[in-house]
Amino acid sequence: MSTLNENSNNKQGENYEIDTLTNDRLIADHDYDGIKELDNDLPPWWKWLFYICIAFGIIYLVRLFVMDSDDLYQDREFNKAMAEAASMVPARSNAEFEIKILTDSESIKRGKETYDKICQVCHLMDGGGLVGPNFTDNYWIHGNSINDWFSVVTNGVIEKGMIAYKDQLSPTQRLEVLSYIATLHGTTPANPKAPQGEEMEWLY
Ligand code: HEC
Repeated sequence: MSTLNENSNNKQGENYEIDTLTNDRLIADHDYDGIKELDNDLPPWWKWLFYICIAFGIIYLVRLFVMDSDDLYQDREFNKAMAEAASMVPARSNAEFEIKILTDSESIKRGKETYDKICQVCHLMDGGGLVGPNFTDNYWIHGNSINDWFSVVTNGVIEKGMIAYKDQLSPTQRLEVLSYIATLHGTTPANPKAPQGEEMEWLY
């Protein structure tokens, strides 16, 4: 079927033969049980891809080992990005935000809205307590100051069922709702929950 062509001008300098049926060039000395390999040139796009990969590999190795380039290391890139992000956050000063009871009626009103929407589920509308403790008595589990309350609302007491509101409420909203809670102190709720925590002096 095929004729051996002793042509030594081909690129590889190998012998090849021409398939007389299809006119394809076959590599003469590759014959596996009668299956022969075509002696085609690789397509240019493939060769270029290959050359580009080699070039990329060399450049990569040089940057990695010779230039020790930062952006080839995930951890260095991460630290750099974190440092950049940190520099974009304005430094917090305590003068901007003071944790103290708010007494103006607008703040109390907004605090009540938040309370009625979120907190009353566990602390009841009148502050008498249900899942959460009673706010009307003198007993506190985590302390009697606005700072203590602020930290409870901010970070929660997860294992006891008190949610952390730092993502849900802004610091001002937290102050407002706590200032509203302070107004519930000393009132007489319909079904007051038994005291929890320690008896403490009322500060506000
Ligand atoms: C899912 C129920 C639940 C919700 C909702 C909830 N709380 Fe609580 N809260 C609790 C529980 C339970 C405790 C008691 C935690 C403990 O035993 O340490 C608590 C404790 C507190 C305390 C500390 C009381 C103390 O005696 O020291 C404050 C202040 C408080 N909650 C405020 C809030 C505010 C403000 C909201 C709404 C933004 C809120 N809670 C919503 C369940 C809840």
